[in-house]
Amino acid sequence: MLPNSMTAFSGLLLASLLASCTQESPAVPAYPEMDGERFRVFAEHCSSCHAPPKPTVHVAREWPFVIARMQQHRVQRGLGPIPAADMEKIKDYLLEYAKAEHGR
Ligand code: HEC
Repeated sequence: MLPNSMTAFSGLLLASLLASCTQESPAVPAYPEMDGERFRVFAEHCSSCHAPPKPTVHVAREWPFVIARMQQHRVQRGLGPIPAADMEKIKDYLLEYAKAEHGR
């Protein structure tokens, strides 16, 4: 009797440990469309100086100003500006997944 219930108990314990592990694991940062072209271009140009930001750190209205400032950082460091075609993809991506405006 005892060994059986012990086994059942430890099985339950293990299952709940595994469940909590997969639910809370912060190891893989999640961005929208991680297998998409726009994410690839964004990650390529926005990860040289810091971790690429989540689109939700700004509302859509703010993103163009932030991106313009990042271009200045690049130029100041002697990196070339992000090519216009790539800029469009990055803006497109960040604006689409931006934080929602309050009251809208
Ligand atoms: C050449 C280096 C460099 C690159 C490349 C770069 N950044 Fe930055 N980023 C910085 C620096 C330096 C700061 C801190 C100073 C500041 O906020 O301007 C910063 C801060 C930030 C912040 C936090 C400040 C805020 O206004 O929220 C965000 C968000 C950000 N960057 C987004 C981006 C995005 C999006 C890209 C790609 C388009 C990018 N960065 C590429 C240098 C860079």
